[in-house]
Amino acid sequence: MSADPVISVRNLDLFYGEFQALKQVPMDVKDRHITALIGPSGCGKSTLLRTLNRMNDLIPSVRVSGTILLEGKDIYLPDTDVCLLRKRVGMVFQRPNPFPLSIYDNVAFGLRVAGMRDRSRIAEVVQRSLTSAALWDALKDKLHHSAVELPLDQQQRLCVARLLAVEPEVILMDEPCSALDPIATSRIEELMLDLKAKYTIVIVTHNMQQAARISDYSGYMLLGEMIEFGKTSGLFISPKDKRTQDYVSGRYG
Ligand SMILES: Nc1ncnc2c1ncn2[C@@H]1O[C@H](COP(=O)(O)OP(=O)(O)OP(=O)(O)O)[C@@H](O)[C@H]1O
Ligand SMILES: [Mg+2]
Repeated sequence: MSADPVISVRNLDLFYGEFQALKQVPMDVKDRHITALIGPSGCGKSTLLRTLNRMNDLIPSVRVSGTILLEGKDIYLPDTDVCLLRKRVGMVFQRPNPFPLSIYDNVAFGLRVAGMRDRSRIAEVVQRSLTSAALWDALKDKLHHSAVELPLDQQQRLCVARLLAVEPEVILMDEPCSALDPIATSRIEELMLDLKAKYTIVIVTHNMQQAARISDYSGYMLLGEMIEFGKTSGLFISPKDKRTQDYVSGRYG
């Protein structure tokens, strides 16, 4: 494991048209750790998360400046292969979004798109991905059932399995538990803790207890700025900035 961060963000500005949503943001994301982004609604958490695999490119008014290095290489250079970037840095959304296909075909999707035709190899990857997402035992006898009929937490884990099949390095999660009840939430949290043995995770969460429970590093954002970033224990127990302190102690707003 290298000591260098997997992702290193410096002086990141992002504009939606005239509106500046990110202001000179710095962030280092460490290999095989969980990094949480917290802060009040509208502070730019999702925007920052989406810059990490250039998902904001899909919004026409967006302009980005600054640098984001992935393994030392700037992902905003013109020669970046954005499809490959999104495979290396995959994303899980707020609402689980399985494709209206079978469980098996959801997990196999990325492999087939990448041109893999070897059926036994695909079956192997599907099993391994579902196992990593803690779904294999529950779903192995209904792989050809429809994915959209699964309970929500299983749908969300299936979306994780779908990413794992294409072997990402980093997994971005934007409030992955916000549609889930507390039991389903704790299952996803357990999964994240398992996954960090092999993957780097960046999660946006509104739930400060969740950030405190599962993350190693946290960043507190406010109005497009990274107010404070550091070890989660430090940020929650002895924040350096008064604004962080107000937020983590629930005095914000
Ligand atoms: N597509 C867009 N076009 C214009 N402005 C946008 C767009 N998406 C977000 N914004 C604005 O950028 C700012 C940051 O939004 P963002 O969604 O990143 O915040 P957030 O911290 O994720 O909020 P929440 O906790 O509510 O999800 C907000 O002021 C928002 O209104
Ligand atoms: Mg958001």
